[in-house]
Order: sequence, then C-alpha cells, then structure tokens
Amino acid sequence: MASKTLSLSEEVKRRRTFAIISHPDAGKTTLTEKLLLYGGAIHSAGSVKSRRAEKYAVSDWMEIERQRGISVTSSVLQFNYGGYCVNILDTPGHQDFSEDTYRTLMAADCAVMVVDCAKGVEAQTKKLFKVCKMRGIPIFTFVNKLDRQGKDPFELLEDIEQVLGIDSFPMNWPIGSGKDFTGVYDRQKSRIELFDGGSHGQSKANVLEGDLEDAAIKERLGGLQHQQLADELELLDHAGNAYDLEEILNGNLTPVFFGSALTNFGVQPFLESFLELTPPPAPRPSNLGPIAPESENFSGFIFKIQANMNPTHRDRIAFLRICSGKFTKGMSVHHVQENRKITLAQPQQFLAQDRMIVETAYPGDIIGLHDPGIFRIGDTLCEDKSSLAYEGIPVFAPEHFAKIYTPNALKRKQFLKGITQLAQEGSIQVFKRPDIGVEELIVGVVGILQFEVLSYRLKHEYGVDVNQQLLPHRYIRWIKQEDFDKKKFSTTMDSMIAVDSLEHPVVLYQHEWSINQLKDRNKDAVLAEISLRN
Ligand code: G4P
Repeated sequence: MASKTLSLSEEVKRRRTFAIISHPDAGKTTLTEKLLLYGGAIHSAGSVKSRRAEKYAVSDWMEIERQRGISVTSSVLQFNYGGYCVNILDTPGHQDFSEDTYRTLMAADCAVMVVDCAKGVEAQTKKLFKVCKMRGIPIFTFVNKLDRQGKDPFELLEDIEQVLGIDSFPMNWPIGSGKDFTGVYDRQKSRIELFDGGSHGQSKANVLEGDLEDAAIKERLGGLQHQQLADELELLDHAGNAYDLEEILNGNLTPVFFGSALTNFGVQPFLESFLELTPPPAPRPSNLGPIAPESENFSGFIFKIQANMNPTHRDRIAFLRICSGKFTKGMSVHHVQENRKITLAQPQQFLAQDRMIVETAYPGDIIGLHDPGIFRIGDTLCEDKSSLAYEGIPVFAPEHFAKIYTPNALKRKQFLKGITQLAQEGSIQVFKRPDIGVEELIVGVVGILQFEVLSYRLKHEYGVDVNQQLLPHRYIRWIKQEDFDKKKFSTTMDSMIAVDSLEHPVVLYQHEWSINQLKDRNKDAVLAEISLRN
C-alpha cells in the first residue's frame, strides 16, 4: 500500500536484495522460512516446501519438477519488514546446484552466509563465497544450530578467516554451548538474549538488558559462566578485529551472528541488524559508466533463464534484475542486444509461495518475463533506445565433464539444436576438441544432476536419445593468450585442450595440482577460472 505514495528514490532506499549462501544442510531453508515468518509472508514454518524437494533422490526430483511445471516459486521471495522491502534470491544448493546458483549472486546486492556451528566452513560455501568476494559485496555470517554442541566459537571465527580469507567481527557472542547454552551477548547493545529451547521460536526470546557487571546478569549466568563470558569478551575486544562499517560494506569484514534458525533464536536481532547495515541497491557498472538506481529511465539485465520441464508448455521464464527507474506492467522497452522494442506484458513477481502479475517494481526487485526464446543471459533491457549494456555475467567453471553424442545419425540436427538451446539457457556449457569437431561434443556442468536433466530434456523436448560418457576431468581454465597456438601450448598428462562455444581455447585437467605445472610451462598464457560471455 505504502509503495504507491513513495518516490522512486524512497523505493530504492527501502530495498534490500540478497542471497543466502551455504553448504547443503547448514540451515538455509530453515533460516529463509524464519525470515519469511517474521516478514509475515508465510504463517507457519515448513511452508517453503518447494525447496525441501531438493532433498529427494534425483529421479524423484525429475518427477517433482515435471509436476510443478516450472519451479520458479522459490526462486525469489519478497516480503516487507519494518518499512524495508526485502528480496531473497534463492541459490539452489542440493542436487540442483548449478551455474545458476553462481549467476544468482550476480543479481544480489549482498549475501548471508549460513555456517553450521558443528561443521564450520564447507566446500559449497567456499565456492559461493568466492563469487561474492569477486563482486566485492558485503557478506554477513549467520552461525547456525547453536542449540547443538558445536565447535568452539573462536575456532569458528578462525575457520572463517583462514579458509575464506575474510576478517570477522562477532556482533554477538554465545554463552555456553550444547546443553549448557544459555543465550548470546549482543556486543553492540550490551544485552543478553536468553535462549529458551522449548518454545521452538514461536515466541520472542527473553532479553536481559545491561552490561556484564549488572547484578541481574551476574545472577542469571552464575559465577562460572559469567567469568567465562567476561574473559571471552575481553579477549575479543583486545585481540579481535575492530568494528568498521566501511570494511563491512566493501566485503572485507564479515559481521558474524550466532543463533539457531530452528528454534528462532537470534533470528530477529540478526534480521534487524542486517537490514540496518546492508546497503540499498547501488549504481551498477555498465558500458556507459555506473547507472544510478534513482535514474528515471528503467533498466535491468537478465541473469537467469528457467526452462519449463513440462513439454506441453515450452515457454521459458527469464529473470530480470531491475537496476534503475520504475517498472510498470505493459511498458515497452528496448532490448539492447537484439536492437528491438518489446512489450513486457505479463511480468511476474514472486511473493513467498505465489507467483503473481506485477504492476510496478523498482531497482533491487526481480521480475520474471515470459520468454519465447528472445532472451540470453546477460541481456540488457532499458526504457530508451540506447546502447546501454550492463557488465556481462561471467561464465563460471564447470566441475564435471562428459562426452556426449547421439547414436542415431538421423537425429544429429535435432541433437545440435537441443544442445545449443540448452546451452543458451546456461545450464550446460558445450566444448569441442579441435581435432574432433562436432562429431563428439564435451558438455561441462557445475552440478552433476545437470547431466541427467540434459538427457531427459533432449529426449522429451527434442526426441533425441544420447549417450554420455563421464570424463575424469574436474577443472577448466580459459586460456588467454595472444596468438594462441595449440601445438605450442604445453599440456600435462591429465589435461586436454578444447574450445568453448565462442571458439575460445580452454584446458581441461583432472588434478587440482596440475594448474601450477600448466602455469609454469605456459608462462605467456593467463589461465582464467571465469570467462566473459562475449
Ligand atoms: P539447507 O536448506 O541449508 O539444506 O538446510 P535446512 O534448512 O533444510 O536444514 C537442514 C537440517 O538442519 C534440517 O533437519 C533442519 O531442521 C536442521 N536445522 C536447521 N537449523 C537448525 C538449528 O538451528 N538447529 C538444529 N538443531 N537443527 C537445525 P532435517 O532433519 O534434515 O530436516 P527436517 O526433517 O527438520 O526438515
């Protein structure tokens, strides 16, 4: 309601657009749910069912995807909280971990990293963190599952700093652990939030205000716990990093919150502090310089294309991140890369569980556009006919590779058409070996499930059976070298040269350590982990 009377710059100021990154099972779904509960977007925990589906076996997943038609409902969730308009971008993380997960981070203004207190920083978190770091966006850490026995909090901070190479600043500090876990001490507000394990987060946590020397706090904690907390806080004050908002906003210092999403403990203080500290949408780099979100001209870019797995509805949905101006339903926009005018007739927005037609939207918001095949990842749309193009969305390194071919020679044309279209959606990357050509293609994916999705879709949408043979290669680098000559490039025993769909040379290799050898042997070449789309 309020949005009708607000100006464009007020709408921008109240937007917060972020992604939650974590390793599977750290508690991302649970935290998302609790944030939605606080925002009033859902009324009971357990409602974010579509995400739970990720935990099914692969075959079930296919079935679920098909029944669901198109799994966009959990891609973006919007809710209002305390005057803020919050957009949470989903980063699929179980079997459906894919390049989309990385690309989504290109549309977020900041990230929340969920870490399981018993496990510390895990592999998938590390990968997603790297992309956030590359973009220089602020990263907030929520150390989860504090209601259970976990690692020592100092050890967890060290883990974050050592493994990820980012400084940390604990915003609150846990008191006791496991069954002796009492609550957390808020270092900014000098107060203790007491843990009540029984309420399962249905009620607000009890709070004791006051600094450490207050009688009520001393009495509640008892001598031993009080002393331990006092010692730990002193150590943090002396040996820990200083609080520095600028460093937080530059992505060099992560504020760390301890809590337990399952019992709701620490979720609300986290949300409030997070919304206060995170920046609204910032000017976005483009070929014409940074574009301010308050600029009156509407613009945005496509960061994800989602296909419909239901063959009777072939349409796709292209996800657009709005970067500037106001979007209104039915507006005509200029599609920069195609150099033509299009009308955005039935754009959709995602409010908790539901898809609905969006009337207006603002910078920071994500809208879903019906895509009859006219959008590519990285395309820019803008109100005026201009040459504005937002900085490209990179191509991220696949981690699994397979040779793929169709045994039916008569279906080759369909096969190539299918592969090309699926590559345009961005779920697979296609490579060929210069000496073999298109007779036998190599497909690279970020998440292994994509191979099955590929076979399934080629069969059901294009009528082509394919054979796939998994390759032992796990790494890829794009070779940036003037006058690249395959014959002069020195490979290792476990590596091979191929070219991507833009004919850029790449090297695939099996062992992580081979990269040093490849670099040593080819000193003139830059071996890049990420490539630009054009
Ligand atoms: P994910 O999206 O990051 O993969 O994790 P998800 O939220 O699905 O949580 C993974 C498991 O961890 C779930 O248990 C969930 O209930 C549990 N969990 C999440 N947050 C907390 C927490 O703060 N404390 C404790 N003790 N557990 C937590 P599950 O048994 O796998 O699933 P379910 O049967 O509870 O749905």
